[in-house]
Amino acid sequence: MIDKFVTLGIETSCDDTGIAILNGQYDILSSKLSSQISSHSQYGGVVPELASRMHQEAILPLLKDVFTEASITKPSKDINLIAVTAGPGLMGSLLVGVMTAKALSQGWGIPLIGVNHLEGHLFANIVANRDLVTPFISVIVSGGHTEIVLVKNFGNYELLGSTRDDAAGEAYDKVSKFLQLGYPGGPIIDKLAQAGNPDLFDLPMPLSKTPDIEFSFSGLKTATITLIQKAEKVGDKININDLCASFQKAVTGSLICKISLAVKKTGVKKVALSGGVAANSGLRIELSKLAEANNWQVYLPPKGMCTDNAEMIAAAGYNAHKRGISSDLSLSPSPSWPIW
Ligand code: KG4
Ligand code: ZN
Repeated sequence: MIDKFVTLGIETSCDDTGIAILNGQYDILSSKLSSQISSHSQYGGVVPELASRMHQEAILPLLKDVFTEASITKPSKDINLIAVTAGPGLMGSLLVGVMTAKALSQGWGIPLIGVNHLEGHLFANIVANRDLVTPFISVIVSGGHTEIVLVKNFGNYELLGSTRDDAAGEAYDKVSKFLQLGYPGGPIIDKLAQAGNPDLFDLPMPLSKTPDIEFSFSGLKTATITLIQKAEKVGDKININDLCASFQKAVTGSLICKISLAVKKTGVKKVALSGGVAANSGLRIELSKLAEANNWQVYLPPKGMCTDNAEMIAAAGYNAHKRGISSDLSLSPSPSWPIW
């Protein structure tokens, strides 16, 4: 029986249509995802026009499935809040989710809240770890973002550092595309890396010597691609597993070194990882080791909650609603909405 506060979460910011029903802050009654990966992979990346069309096809059947699983029979009575990703993301993709949420809100008379996708990623850790309380350091590493944020309180965020150019996941995707390994590159390279020697190729660990919390993955991507091109020119055969392992070591090392810096600078010893790259096995292992050695606490969402999903959007929306935040029918997508 549903007896608390039920939030319908809708996520369509990029290439995954996600719908979830959350009871209170933690109980996931149902969560489903319609992934577009197989349609975009032939192009080596997300095709925005295709993404928005596929969201439009997927969203209502998915909504129906989720209602069935969560035993929602009278949405206007059973649902207390509709939370939808309003940005950042692809304009056409965001539009599908926001317009659907507004129509349902209007039709069923349910309050509406627009959620920032990055705040959503941060909340994946809240849903997954009931003991995680503020303040903590949130590390958001995805295909579009690499950010270290001090969460002083919910709604009170301080950006400690971000990437100067490519996001960590973007570097994975671009190297994978060059090597013709497939899309998205992160999970593929991660798997190959586990069978390789991370010390075989000496790739640069970007900005690891600077005193600031900042990242740069574009140079590492270029160095990796140049290494392949040079080897091809002289007819050398590169072992892809070793190359993936060395690339992953450089990305992971760069992230870990700046996470350590953030802990030192703030004195906050709780680190929560989120975003697609948080599913990376090397990063999870190295960060956990470092945390154990230094007596920090590390929070990792289950791998399925690292990549885009609607549970995290429902959770962020619920929390913001409790803080008195709401949206109305003037809500519109904001493709580059900052929260810090
Ligand atoms: O959070 P997400 O689903 O979407 C964005 O908001 O960007 O993240 C997708 C990104 C992609 O770049 C993908 O290659 C990367 O996360 N990713 C990974 C892994 N799984 C997904 N990167 C490294 N290792 C993984 N295991
Ligand atoms: Zn995301």
